[in-house]
Amino acid sequence: MITEFIQQIPKAELHIHIEGSLEPEFMLNLAERNQIKLPFTSVEEIRQAYQFNHLQSFLDLYYLGSRVLLTEQDFYDLTWAYLEKVACQNIRHTEIFFDPQTHTQRGIPFEVVLSGIDQALQAGQKKLGISSRLMLCFLRHLSPESAMEILKQAIPYQDQIIAVGLDSSEQNHPPSQFKDVFEVARNLGFLTVAHAGEEGPPEYIWQAINLLKVSRIDHGVRCIEDPKLVQYLKEKQIPLTVCPLSNVRLKVFPTLQHHNLKTLLDLGLCVTVNSDDPAYFGGYILENFLETQSALNFSFQEIYQLAKNSFLASFLGEQEKHNRI
Ligand code: ADE
Ligand code: ZN
Repeated sequence: MITEFIQQIPKAELHIHIEGSLEPEFMLNLAERNQIKLPFTSVEEIRQAYQFNHLQSFLDLYYLGSRVLLTEQDFYDLTWAYLEKVACQNIRHTEIFFDPQTHTQRGIPFEVVLSGIDQALQAGQKKLGISSRLMLCFLRHLSPESAMEILKQAIPYQDQIIAVGLDSSEQNHPPSQFKDVFEVARNLGFLTVAHAGEEGPPEYIWQAINLLKVSRIDHGVRCIEDPKLVQYLKEKQIPLTVCPLSNVRLKVFPTLQHHNLKTLLDLGLCVTVNSDDPAYFGGYILENFLETQSALNFSFQEIYQLAKNSFLASFLGEQEKHNRI
C-alpha cells in the first residue's frame, strides 16, 4: 500500500517554523503556566480561529500564539514536542526555522530562545536519532536595520545556526530590501534561503536568487507563471520547499487537487514536501504527503523522488546526504 510506503520511507523536512508547531492544547497550557492572557479560553475556540483567507490572517494568529513562549523550558518543550511527533512519521532529518525577532521584541533574550531550541535538537539526535539544523528567519515586515541587529546577536551562536532566511508578510516586502543584510550574513559564513513566490510574484523569486544568493526557495510555487524562471530552477536544480496543506489553508490554491506540486515535479524541478506550520494547517509532514498523494495521485516512484529530494536539498554534507537516501 502506498500509504505504508509513505509512512515508512525515511524523510527529511526542510521548511517548518518551530513557532508554527505550537498546538492549541500546549498554547493554553503555556498561557496558564506563564500567566499570559489570550483571547481564547478553549481548544475549540482556538481551532475556530484557524479560518484563514490569506497569509496575513494566519500571521496575526501565529504571532499572537507565540506570546505564550517565555522561558528556555518553553522553547525546549515546543521543539521536543515537534521532534517526538515527527519521529513517529519517519523523519530522519529536519531543518527548523525560528523567528528570533518575534521574541526579542517582547524582551525575551536571544540566548533563551536559541538555547531552549538547541538543547531539544541535541536531545532529538541522541534519543530519537533525528539529525537537525537550525535556520534563523528575519521578519520581512520589520526593517532591514532590525534584521541586521538580530544578525549581530546571532554571531556568538553561529556554530548552532546554519542559515538565515526571510519570512512573514510577503506582499510589498521584496527580497531586494534585505540584500545588504544577506550579504553580511553570507560573508559571516551563513547559508541563505528565503520565502518567495508563496503569495508574491515570480520577480521575488528572481530577487531571492540573484540578490540574496539563496541555496533554496521556500514555497516558490508561483514560479510557474514565468517559464524562464522554471527553466532556470530546473537547470540549476535550485530546490523549492513546497508546503501543500499550508498553500490550501492560505488560499494560494483552492484545493489540493489544484496544487501544482505534480506539475513542478513532472517538469524536473527539485521539489520537496514540508509542513510549514503544522499546528495551524492541519498536518505534519506525513499528512502533507498522504493528502497530497491522494489528491494528485503520486506513484511509488514519485513519492520516492520527493523523499530523495528532501535529503538532496538539505544542508547535510554531500557524502552524508547520499548515505541517508
Ligand atoms: N511564517 C510562518 N509561516 C509562514 C509562511 N507560510 N509564510 C511566511 N511567513 C511565515
Ligand atoms: Zn514558511
